[in-house]
Amino acid sequence: MPRTPFLTANWKMHKTVAEAQRFAAAFLPLVKDATAVEIAIAPPFTALSRMAEALAGSNVSLAAQNVNPEPQGAYTGEVSALMLAEVGCRYGIVGHSERRALYREDDALIARKALALLERGIRPIVCVGETLEQREAGATFEVIGAQLSGSLDGLPGERAPEIVIAYEPVWAIGTGRTATPEIAQEVHAFVRGRLAERFGAAAQAMRIQYGGSVKPENVDDLMARPDIDGALVGGASLDPEAFARIARFRA
Ligand code: 13P
Repeated sequence: MPRTPFLTANWKMHKTVAEAQRFAAAFLPLVKDATAVEIAIAPPFTALSRMAEALAGSNVSLAAQNVNPEPQGAYTGEVSALMLAEVGCRYGIVGHSERRALYREDDALIARKALALLERGIRPIVCVGETLEQREAGATFEVIGAQLSGSLDGLPGERAPEIVIAYEPVWAIGTGRTATPEIAQEVHAFVRGRLAERFGAAAQAMRIQYGGSVKPENVDDLMARPDIDGALVGGASLDPEAFARIARFRA
């Protein structure tokens, strides 16, 4: 089943509103004819609204980096799925390893966040990934399998095609050390197998992104692998030329 490649910029805690607008002005012309792929940008919350205006009518959609699973209430500092839908987010990242590690997010919370997004028509990008210690201990598949089953718990099967998985080995994030295409493909094939057990034939339509030091220099080899359907890009997505080259990969 053909899957539209999906490239997402995760800006993390980078770029003011003015910087985000400058990025959009430089980036959109570089990708305007990249119609065979889907592209999204996840800026910080503060830039969402103005980025929605900057991206309106373009082939680039808006994504959130996080969400609170509750519909509303006394949750100081948090943002709901309804608020994200209102400003035009089409995607939302949940379960990023930085949130799992720095903010102690567990699989059950991540599953609730993904469900809250789906209920507001926002497609979740659910991140999974093992640490270096876990990989060296031979626990990669066990860890990824557990993260998948926990983070997808309770999500309605009929919404499966809207769910994106991002495999981001923690040891490859921000380190310059990319997983080889072979290593990434091996895990992606495992992920698709688990998705097939969970969602049946719909697994063939689900996109699995790779993340971790994706750059213009390595994106082509990664995207040539059968189960690598896109990339979730941190550092290299901050530069319009670099992210445009990534979005215009040659596989
Ligand atoms: P880098 O591309 O900077 O390694 O970050 C990857 C990532 O965490 C994207 O979510």
